[in-house]
Amino acid sequence: GFTVVLKRSGRELTVAPGSTIIDTLQEAGVRVSYSCRSGVCGTCETRVIEGTPDHRDNLLSERERESGKVMMICCSLAKSDRLVLDL
Ligand code: FES
Repeated sequence: GFTVVLKRSGRELTVAPGSTIIDTLQEAGVRVSYSCRSGVCGTCETRVIEGTPDHRDNLLSERERESGKVMMICCSLAKSDRLVLDL
């Protein structure tokens, strides 16, 4: 698992192994936009402030992936122990 920090509220949530960021947020009552939940629509695109995403979507370009500045929170995970998101 890893920790997700929501920059705007300062909340910290733990994403359990096998879970997703979006599921973890919803379980905590955080409202998030999504549609496909499988990394193809882009609705859940979120800015990454700190940490390294583990991209699992089918949408971002190679350059966007490498920049690590945005991620699809419905399916992508983290390579770092902590991700700070612009949420
Ligand atoms: Fe479609 Fe995440 S909800 S890419």
